[in-house]
Amino acid sequence: MGRRETTKSPAQHDAVSPLQSKRKKPNPNADSSESCSADNIVPLIPSRRKTAKTSTVNPDACFVGKPIPATDALAKWPHRYPSKDFFYFTIIFSSKLLGKKKDSGRSSNEVTSENGALNAKSHYRQARVDGVIYNLYDAVYVKAEDDKPDYIARIVEMFETDDHEQYFTAQWFYRAEDTVIKDHEDLVDKQRVFISDVKDENPLDCIVSKVKVAKITPNSFWFNMNNPEPTPKVESDMSSAISSETVSNGFVGDISMVNGERCEGEITDLVEWSLLDLYSGCGAMSTGLCFGASISGIKLVTRWAVDINEHACNSLKLNHPETQVRNEAAENFLNLLKAWHKLCGDFKLLGSERSDSDLDMNEDELHDEVEDMKNEASENQSDSEEFEVGKLLAVCHGGPNDVKKPGQYFKVRWKGYGPGEDTWEPIDGLSDCKDVLKDFVKRGYKKKLLPLPGDADFICGGPPCQGVSGFNRFRNTQAPLEDVKNKQLLVYMDIIEFLKPKYVLMENVVDILRFAGGFLGRYAVGRLVAMDYQARMGMMAAGSYGLPQFRMRVFLWGALHTQKLPPYPLPTHEVVSRGFVPSEFEEITVAYDSKDTCQLGDALFLEDAISDLPPVANDESQDERKYATAPCTEFQRYIRLKRNEMVGNMHPSQSQSGRILYDHRPLKLNQDDYDSLPDSQE
Ligand SMILES: C[S@@+](CC[C@H](N)C(=O)[O-])C[C@H]1O[C@@H](n2cnc3c(N)ncnc32)[C@H](O)[C@@H]1O
Repeated sequence: MGRRETTKSPAQHDAVSPLQSKRKKPNPNADSSESCSADNIVPLIPSRRKTAKTSTVNPDACFVGKPIPATDALAKWPHRYPSKDFFYFTIIFSSKLLGKKKDSGRSSNEVTSENGALNAKSHYRQARVDGVIYNLYDAVYVKAEDDKPDYIARIVEMFETDDHEQYFTAQWFYRAEDTVIKDHEDLVDKQRVFISDVKDENPLDCIVSKVKVAKITPNSFWFNMNNPEPTPKVESDMSSAISSETVSNGFVGDISMVNGERCEGEITDLVEWSLLDLYSGCGAMSTGLCFGASISGIKLVTRWAVDINEHACNSLKLNHPETQVRNEAAENFLNLLKAWHKLCGDFKLLGSERSDSDLDMNEDELHDEVEDMKNEASENQSDSEEFEVGKLLAVCHGGPNDVKKPGQYFKVRWKGYGPGEDTWEPIDGLSDCKDVLKDFVKRGYKKKLLPLPGDADFICGGPPCQGVSGFNRFRNTQAPLEDVKNKQLLVYMDIIEFLKPKYVLMENVVDILRFAGGFLGRYAVGRLVAMDYQARMGMMAAGSYGLPQFRMRVFLWGALHTQKLPPYPLPTHEVVSRGFVPSEFEEITVAYDSKDTCQLGDALFLEDAISDLPPVANDESQDERKYATAPCTEFQRYIRLKRNEMVGNMHPSQSQSGRILYDHRPLKLNQDDYDSLPDSQE
């Protein structure tokens, strides 16, 4: 992989949704203002356009006023005015080209230049269609098929061809259902339209009427103001779909980091950003993000991590001592966030001062205080069966101690008792100790024990969607979101909706695009867009970046419209690619164009990564072993570096010299699983 062919068969194009087929060059870092030529896109609505009238005088549609002075028109649209000598050859060449084009909406005797563009005799600023005057840059409805709603476009050019045909160039707006969001258009405000960089020529008489399309705030959302739907939330909203999988503000130069090098537009003024790692596992994603951010001069700190697996949480703690690691289900975490927000509100804490340092609030910190309390209490202890709450140590949502009733629970250290007697108590049982509860919430609020809306600058995570796996025979293709195995995608998006971070990075298996026509992938983009995020989806293989791993993963960036939407880094290595990518989403593979010249490193194989490790038996009891040999490959040399040697400018807690970056803690397999592992010789 690393490179890809850009041409497609017509059949493949047909399967692509309009927006998906519009990209000129699928370079993930392409300038988003780049325009597409009509030749390398599948026209949006060619078969549905009116064909141009052949008569030179059309009383219903004609230009009005004087033509734009020839020198100005030539300067602005030079491709419409080729030189006469050149002209002769291009007529022949391009008529052949046109012969191949389906439904171009042009008449066969049109004259075009070498690049297929229609040649102009003159350009105009105004036209009259069915008695209405239209100006250059007006937004208009354009005739669609009989029962379809008319299309929306902006007139960016009006010209008459050499053979007296009258055209306008449309820059298209899309409705959500015409974008990658497709089946989930209900998520998005009906009045919202997405500007694209797709432009093409259409006969002037395709214009139906004017439409008011407003960009609500600078760099903000576009609304169709004519739509008689409920009034839009005027103070927010925007979006422009630059290409199939990118929905962005249309910022130009949205680069912050490409291939590890600082670029223009980089954000340097932010001191520290907080990261919430959901479905964190042992924290590889957040570790990588923190490393990458530090290269860009951002101190990204994994403040909170959530995983249902206890071993994963313990591993994460090794690499991220600064993190509040929460061993709980994400759905419980979401409920807890809401309940915590309410508690902070009830105690009138919201908006009050909070500390940005020493954010750690762990149980050890409380230990000394509690010991004092214990000694004090033991002196006064009576034989009474009444227990008194000494201190609250932690909070969760769900059913700890296998208590079935879900709800908010607090870990209680009882007065006069030690940690061995700690218990989880429901909030209702603490009604008599409001002060203790208030003290805990106050401390938790100050130290950001849990993120409140706006606290997490960044959320990353890969919600498991096991309901899409090809191994699952009972997949729900009709309603994938009703499958409980796919529920985490909703939970993930709900957490984002509640916390509203600046940035989101979601990772997932390619099956979310393969399964049920990409239903879940489209849903994810739709949710982000509905929450006013810019979104960009890309497919990458870790192998393209120098790891022995060929499997592809889908990555989805979300950035608030106040932020710059990050690009994907281009590959550094060749990779042996396996598995298939659905053709509809082929173009989101992050790769160089086949015509680009670049030097990629050799593909890595498992042996390159682990040939220096000693053999490990299943009953191996040592947590740490010595390497069997000196490093044999570049990768092995790299993986042995201490974390402070890997990157610069790390957060102090992450860069103490000599600290090891743990990749895992051993977990004993059952004998069957161990026996099924391939032999090192295989
Ligand atoms: C593919 S792993 C994540 C890997 C991680 N992003 C990394 O970079 O190391 C998926 C994780 O989701 C966790 N998980 C599954 N269901 C969960 C749930 N309902 N709530 C929280 N975590 C869950 C699993 O325990 C597993 O560690």
